[in-house]
Amino acid sequence: MTINWILERVEESPSTNEDLMSRWRDGELWEPIARVAAKQSAGRGRMGRTWVSHSDQALTFSIAYPFKKPIAKLSGLSLACGLAVIQGISQATGLSKDALKELGLGLKWPNDIFLGDAKLAGLLIEGGQVNATQPTWLVIGIGINLRTDLTIEQNIGRSIASISQITNEPKIDADVLWLAIIKELGDVLEAFEKNSFKAFQQEWNKWDIYQNQTCQISQIDKISMEGIERGVDDEGYLLIETPNGIQRVISGDVSLRKAS
Ligand code: BTN
Repeated sequence: MTINWILERVEESPSTNEDLMSRWRDGELWEPIARVAAKQSAGRGRMGRTWVSHSDQALTFSIAYPFKKPIAKLSGLSLACGLAVIQGISQATGLSKDALKELGLGLKWPNDIFLGDAKLAGLLIEGGQVNATQPTWLVIGIGINLRTDLTIEQNIGRSIASISQITNEPKIDADVLWLAIIKELGDVLEAFEKNSFKAFQQEWNKWDIYQNQTCQISQIDKISMEGIERGVDDEGYLLIETPNGIQRVISGDVSLRKAS
């Protein structure tokens, strides 16, 4: 069954995630909903970071969905959402997934979509279950760069990737991309209700940009582990091969980077 999303569009919002989170906290979410903003003034990223984007330079939206499962049974969901973003990009650009991979599109554990060496998109999942009788409302926020922007690159001190680098069209239709991704996210969320991350593990590992490379796991900017990245297990835990054996890393306040 296809999810019927309530679609909302605003010119400006502090953060589409916060908009939907505050409705959840106030008990005002009833149906699956998707909210897009042309501009965010206080976009948030993982680990308390900010997500900076300019008006129409990025596609910034959030969806809220009520899961029947408790949050403990949704492990790996954010990874599967990354696959939905790739599938949506493929649909909206008309490029096959093989062509996109050829161009350098890939996933970086846990929640990033990369194009070559630069980040194209990020995902932030918030929410939870108020009590056992209530659904688990998750707010899934996605920011995708449509165009590169020198000011942003200067602000964050590194290059960013954008959709304009993978399509021949001078201007991608952001609505087409938004609707394609929402549709794919809907399919992933429904599959997750029935199955678990196991159904996505193999596909995720195919897109993993750091697989078999020496990587570091950091927590609050301190390196806590170094080893060879071996993809994810069937719950979405990252596997790092260290001299002490394979370690399973849970996606919390940790970040992954390639060892230099
Ligand atoms: C990250 O890479 O750290 C996650 C970035 C998530 C950004 C999106 S933009 C739409 C939604 N609203 C927010 O405030 N954040 C997410």
